[in-house]
Amino acid sequence: MRETVRLKNTGLRGVTVADSAISFIDGEKGILIYRGYRIEDLVAYSTFMETSYLLLFGTLPTPEQLDSFTQQVKAMRTLPGHVIDSMRLWPKNARPMDILQASVPLLSMTKDREEGDEPDRRICLECSIGLIARLPSLVAVWHRIRTGQPILEPDPNLDHAANFLWMLQGKKPDTATAGDLDICLILHADHTFNASTFAAREVVSTRASLYAGVSAALGALSGNLHGGANTKVMEMLIKLENEPDIEQWVAGQLRRGDRLMGMGHAIYKTGDPRVAFLKTMGKRLEKQTVTKWAAISERIEKAALALFAEQGKTTILPNVDFASAPVYHLMGIPTDLMTPVFAISRVAGWCAHIIEEQFADAQGKPALYRPQAQYVGEYCGPMGCEYVPMKTR
Ligand code: SDX
Repeated sequence: MRETVRLKNTGLRGVTVADSAISFIDGEKGILIYRGYRIEDLVAYSTFMETSYLLLFGTLPTPEQLDSFTQQVKAMRTLPGHVIDSMRLWPKNARPMDILQASVPLLSMTKDREEGDEPDRRICLECSIGLIARLPSLVAVWHRIRTGQPILEPDPNLDHAANFLWMLQGKKPDTATAGDLDICLILHADHTFNASTFAAREVVSTRASLYAGVSAALGALSGNLHGGANTKVMEMLIKLENEPDIEQWVAGQLRRGDRLMGMGHAIYKTGDPRVAFLKTMGKRLEKQTVTKWAAISERIEKAALALFAEQGKTTILPNVDFASAPVYHLMGIPTDLMTPVFAISRVAGWCAHIIEEQFADAQGKPALYRPQAQYVGEYCGPMGCEYVPMKTR
């Protein structure tokens, strides 16, 4: 008889549900590791393409492996016609994360091979590469359609981040901006069992397809407590751009019991290691403009941390979304596309986790995720409550 562990209403915090070799977080020391490599080294020496390879295959690629991987991604950036035709029919004011979640299953309809009942690692890897290649195209093509601009073909001469900005904005980004976005993609690529990754793994534990897993992950990421927070942070910064008393606004938010977007983390309790990179990037990018997002952010952070400290909540600190939002804004990324940009990166991590889940043990037979609930509903005994016919109700 299996032991029942009661951890109700904890959001599964502190519950270990599987072994994983993909990433590691130390929430007390502020450490993030992908396949053994510190995020600081990957930001300093790697690229998103190399990091995606590392997440998917588990090792740093040789030059030949990286070149072959990159060429495969470039070859799969173009969207199938039926996806674009479908997009053209969708309401232009649809939420971009809904568009993204609706589009991924469409991509699965053109798989050139059916995934059999037994997951095939080679096919899963090919489909993963296809999703890493195509999510940026889905976001960019949707934006061009919704703004009535011509759809732009991928440019094989451009690297991943640069090609996304080209397809989105219609102009080739300067090397520095493309390099900065590539670093953002590295920083967001994986994060152990965050809500969207857990959703993906739970879905594919039923032997559902990789596309079903990624589509579920997109749904989870869209929530404001998760990936949706970066969009909310930018909306907050824009709202406060001309607010004379930011401190008062922050106090009002917290007094009303509203969550301050971009603050706090379920695991990091001494600081999110990704924030420092993004804050530095944001300040550097801002030197080229006259905006004041860093100054506004600093005032929000200072006021919030002081108020949290008064409540004894000293572990609520800025998270990745607090710092990424102004950076994406300064790159010309529309506010409502910031969560999709998060997805463009995290799809590499989701696919790595899905493959790990599908081959969870040597026999490749994953354990179906099936937690329990504490029943607190009406109960009249094992024979059930007496059914009351409609005419006597
Ligand atoms: C991401 O999991 C990941 O790894 C996610 C992510 C990734 O890379 O995948 O890092 C990306 O999702 C970052 C988080 C983005 N979300 C937000 O910025 C939304 C705002 N933040 C919160 O909702 C909150 O901080 C969470 C959900 C992120 C984390 O919550 P916790 O720390 O697990 O704990 P909790 O929600 O139970 O809150 C504990 C207390 C509560 O107060 P009490 O009810 O005990 O009085 O802290 C308070 C909360 O109200 N609190 C906040 C707050 N965060 C926590 N109060 C106001 N504003 C906040 N932001």
